[in-house]
Amino acid sequence: MRPLNHRPGRRARCLAILLALAAGLLPAAAGAQADPLAPTGRWSANTRGSAPVPPMGWNSWNAFYSDIDEEKVMASATILVDSGLAARGYRYVNIDDGWWLRRRQPDGRMVIRTDKFPSAATGPDDQTSFRPLTDRLHAMGLRAGIYSDIGRNSCGQVYTPNLANQPEGTIAEREVGLHGHVDQDIQLYFAEWGFDLIKVDGCGIRGLSAETDHVRSGNYRAFPPLIDMNALGRTDIAAVQALYEDVGHALHRHNPDGDYLFSVCLWGSSNVRAWGKNIGNISRTSDDITPQWTRMLTNLDTVSTRALYAGPDAWNDPDMLFVGSGDFDADHMTGARSHFALWAILNAPLIIGFDLRKATPEQIALFGNPGLVALNQDPAGHQAVPAYQSGDLQIFVKTLADGDKGVAIFNRGLAPVDAQLSARHLKFRDDDEVILTDLWTGDRQTFTGEVPFRLEPRETRVFRASGQRVLPDGLYVSEQPGDVNPAEDGVRTPQHDPAIHRGVIGWQGTRGSGEHPQYGGFGGAQADRSPFGEPLRIAGVRFDTGIGVLANSRLEVRNRGFARFSARVGIDDSAGTRDRPVTFFLYGDGRLLARSQPQRFGAAPQAMTADITGVSMVEMVVRADGEPGGPLPVVWGDAALVR
Ligand code: GLA
Repeated sequence: MRPLNHRPGRRARCLAILLALAAGLLPAAAGAQADPLAPTGRWSANTRGSAPVPPMGWNSWNAFYSDIDEEKVMASATILVDSGLAARGYRYVNIDDGWWLRRRQPDGRMVIRTDKFPSAATGPDDQTSFRPLTDRLHAMGLRAGIYSDIGRNSCGQVYTPNLANQPEGTIAEREVGLHGHVDQDIQLYFAEWGFDLIKVDGCGIRGLSAETDHVRSGNYRAFPPLIDMNALGRTDIAAVQALYEDVGHALHRHNPDGDYLFSVCLWGSSNVRAWGKNIGNISRTSDDITPQWTRMLTNLDTVSTRALYAGPDAWNDPDMLFVGSGDFDADHMTGARSHFALWAILNAPLIIGFDLRKATPEQIALFGNPGLVALNQDPAGHQAVPAYQSGDLQIFVKTLADGDKGVAIFNRGLAPVDAQLSARHLKFRDDDEVILTDLWTGDRQTFTGEVPFRLEPRETRVFRASGQRVLPDGLYVSEQPGDVNPAEDGVRTPQHDPAIHRGVIGWQGTRGSGEHPQYGGFGGAQADRSPFGEPLRIAGVRFDTGIGVLANSRLEVRNRGFARFSARVGIDDSAGTRDRPVTFFLYGDGRLLARSQPQRFGAAPQAMTADITGVSMVEMVVRADGEPGGPLPVVWGDAALVR
């Protein structure tokens, strides 16, 4: 197993490059390319596939687990259309685990379970096809999604073998995952069967070490695990990434029109936060959601501080909706509304996981709430940013394409909470009127300064807000996370995130020693906060607005016609390392536009401005001198693009 992706220090890299140059191994220009902080002038997050706004639709898993069939899938598809939800944007109908019967030998062609999907029995000799089903969905104006695994075996086989519809046959026939068949399967699913989306799970590269019962009993071949959910140090990040990249290339090859969607399902493991956005259109940030309130909180927490890591064509995915079941069922509509509103404002894919045959008119109305759907589908693609955070109450604010804000005030807990929403949370002036439109009731109200709300347990108030912007002629960088890509976020050793809610997991109970911090993705680039969640401060000067990031980072920012960049920069007061000066650089389309003086810990914020007229890609780079030590948080205070 390769070690964790410790990047060589700058000195080691320089030495390696010099040696390679001396040996004639590299052209001279390659030295610059090897520097990950060198400006490129281009956007390096994913632009392949098609997901300009978060995908919306339905998936079979939360509704039926693997006990699926054609009737169930088509019933939900029909209700999507008949209820008007499809017209609101719910277009994907995704078949999850349970569709496959076996991998035919020796040619490896996948065979569909025709006892469950009769229309797939299209010819002799196991020549099954989903084309009749995808044709029907397409004729209804819908899109079709399918499911696979990056390993040889599926999640059902590895973790839920008691559930229905497991693959059958010999060991080789039961190897239904993509491993060793990427090109063949992607060609079949997209070019031949006509699917529009694939969700690629990762259980086959996780749970089949030689010591497992599955392997010892001869049930499956061993696959030396590449992922250890509890230990990033035992996860081969580069190898996992390479496997998913391979699928990305195959999708690109077999969908010449580019109209497809790649759903990466690695549950936040493998430091996928850093690279999933460069490959997939949506990328899971957490393990599976369950219909329990506290589990929803866990999944919410894995996504809520990652706004800068998502945007058009590469969204964070905190897993599918569980509205309709358990703590989110028809008797718990306060909880259901919160779950839905939070997913909407955080730009999560809105994928219904409910048997729509059982949906009440109130539930259909919730899925179709025009104001909330519009919030989620806003074309600017900026995920909401936490404006206020506590264990009890959160306020999320999302910048919309027309300059309005979406705002959700969310009571996580079991007691009523008194909350004050202030104009400053919205980055609106507090001496001018703010207009709020309640997205549940349509009611309008105005306030100046701040406005009180009393929230019942588990309640979310959600509004569209308009007012006078603090920055009238531009946008703070932290207000436009969909146009920011942390190409290098300065994280050298990915860490588990201790700030994520850790509930009792249903399938595990309280056996063992408890839920440990698990998901990779602590530290890194944050909107309006330091990488580890503290307030932004330089030499005691507090910045409510700005970008917190680690030194040795490079952020790509799309410039949508702004003329000037400005910020006040320095080392964050939370830094543990005090002896390394840092320098801030600003590039426009690859050219250096401005650089700061070397900044030391405790030095006052330094102003930085640059003319960015006509520039399409701004890059914000911070370099630290000296040997890499501990994490070194820095601040781009009040960083803004203005006209
Ligand atoms: C994993 C995924 C789920 C679902 C199941 C299917 O657990 O995270 O979303 O696809 O596999 O077995």
